[in-house]
Amino acid sequence: MLFLLVPLAQVLLTHCLGEKYLELLRVRSEKEMNPDRRRGIWSRRDFFTRLGWAGFGFFAFATLLGFIRAAFPRVLFLPPSTFKAGFPSDYATGEVNEKYKQDYRVWIVREDEGIYAIFAKCTHLGCTPRWLATEDKFKCPCHGSGFYKSGMNFEGPAPRPLDRFRIYRGEDGQLVVDKSKVFKMEPGTEPDEQYPDSVLAA
Ligand code: FES
Repeated sequence: MLFLLVPLAQVLLTHCLGEKYLELLRVRSEKEMNPDRRRGIWSRRDFFTRLGWAGFGFFAFATLLGFIRAAFPRVLFLPPSTFKAGFPSDYATGEVNEKYKQDYRVWIVREDEGIYAIFAKCTHLGCTPRWLATEDKFKCPCHGSGFYKSGMNFEGPAPRPLDRFRIYRGEDGQLVVDKSKVFKMEPGTEPDEQYPDSVLAA
């Protein structure tokens, strides 16, 4: 019975109220068919839902970044403690060879007595000295310490000679410098006298 009364009431209202009632009906049906329009695209519930998803997305992204970062741990790759330095015949007598200074902080020196490897680190505060071939000496740019070709200190604040590393001949005949074996020099005595073993007869 009710399903007959509702359309009948609508016909009567349409007849009585005319265009005004039809407009009300149209707006109402539009709202029912499109709830978004009724609420607007940024209703409060939508806003907080999107805010929640954005927070979740950010958290997930940060977690993923953490996993990726953990897969690549921070590792300090140090140069190996030993390295090959070619054959003795590669070095001329009286020469200070700087080929390995950049990578290994080592000078290879050949004298009549043999070959030795000097640690290119000033014994004052640790700067890297320069080899001045014209003056036949090592000179530290930081505070002016000077060292003879043997590593013996003779000027400036450096308190002792330059240290040396062990140098030996490998199975293939090449020179090998072992930086794990340091000949630490004491003040006042020539390095060759302190550590005869630091010189490889060649
Ligand atoms: S660090 Fe070389 S003289 Fe001071």
